[in-house]
Amino acid sequence: MPTQKIRSVVVAGGAGFIGSTFARLLLERGYDHVRVFDKLTYAGNPANIADLEGNPSFDFIQGDICDAAAVDAAVAGFDAIVNFAAETHVDRSIMDPGEFIQTDVYGVFTILEAVRKHNTRRFVHVSTDEVYGEVASGSSTESDPLAPRNPYSASKAGGEMMVRAYVSTYGVPALISRGSNTYGPYQYPEKLIPLAVTNVLEGTPIPIYGDGRQVRDWIHARDHASGIEFLLRHGDHGEAYNIGGGNERENLTIATIILDELDAPSEMIAHVTDRLGHDRRYSLDTSRIRALGWRPEIDFEQGLRETIQWYRDNRAWWEPIKSGDFAGYYKDNYAARERIG
Ligand code: NAD
Ligand code: DAU
Repeated sequence: MPTQKIRSVVVAGGAGFIGSTFARLLLERGYDHVRVFDKLTYAGNPANIADLEGNPSFDFIQGDICDAAAVDAAVAGFDAIVNFAAETHVDRSIMDPGEFIQTDVYGVFTILEAVRKHNTRRFVHVSTDEVYGEVASGSSTESDPLAPRNPYSASKAGGEMMVRAYVSTYGVPALISRGSNTYGPYQYPEKLIPLAVTNVLEGTPIPIYGDGRQVRDWIHARDHASGIEFLLRHGDHGEAYNIGGGNERENLTIATIILDELDAPSEMIAHVTDRLGHDRRYSLDTSRIRALGWRPEIDFEQGLRETIQWYRDNRAWWEPIKSGDFAGYYKDNYAARERIG
């Protein structure tokens, strides 16, 4: 744990979904200097942080975490860095894994080198419950072996291994968070919940992979961000911490809630060919972080209803995304999938 308060933080990947939520939270909580460092890939969006511009405690640098000189310059003089920057979509990792290995493994190495050089007081690396692989029964604890099963989760596990190596070899003050499936405003509409909501709003069916009985544990982005901010203050170096919402739901249940909320018929669910290597279930044991005093606060059904309403109210945010490059990705990922129900 750091002996002095962390006041200035670089948020790598802070123009994405959870990173922008986290940057906003830090500013609300009175941090002195919050710097978003982001490459602005297809998933990074200046609109996600537009409301932070003009805040004297905030600045933005466009840069790549694989670019050592850029990372070096961005972290110099800061108390801490939190790394959200990653390629994050499992389907894209199955279609084209190379960029995942580059950003999610090599990019983490670049940050570790900068943290080592500048004696940065704290590095929180944001990882995922997917590193445990699928969990048939029970819940994953932090000491469970990592058993990733797709190129995204394997690259995230690789990033974690670099962090662990730098902690034990060089004593770098780093720790890891492993979050569960996250939902909320500003999520890129390739992920299940925003894809389903925006599809229904456009009159397009929700593609459900296979039987739709796969289970994910959902957490609101505000709760995920608050868990990471808690670890920034209270986590121990060298440790990993699960951050889960405790809301395990089947994908079909999620789709049904969305249809009910939007008054759409159940025929809007289209079962399609399954994702390759599709993990059946994730489940997190969150005793470790709860024992330190953190817990999620947002009720899932209410948080989901509010999120659906946000997408209804913010068509100007997602319509340009869906009509741009996304349309090509959608065709590539979904056109080859057969309708199976
Ligand atoms: P996202 O895809 O919405 O955003 C990723 C951000 O990283 C984008 O702004 C993008 O421009 C940026 N980025 C990508 N490559 C970069 C690079 N080389 N250099 C600098 N910036 C780069 O992602 P998200 O859903 O907000 O996820 C954030 C982090 O949380 C990721 O590390 C992800 O693995 C992890 N995570 C996500 C979830 C989830 O359900 N979304 C759950 C658990 C963990
Ligand atoms: O568990 C944490 C992970 O959650 C994060 O590390 C990832 O970055 C994030 O993308 C997410 O991964 P998933 O693969 O679980 O999320 P996705 O929204 O892609 O899918 C959620 C579930 O819904 C999964 O079982 C696949 C299914 N699905 C997804 C899409 C996009 C469908 O049935 N149809 C779809 O069109």
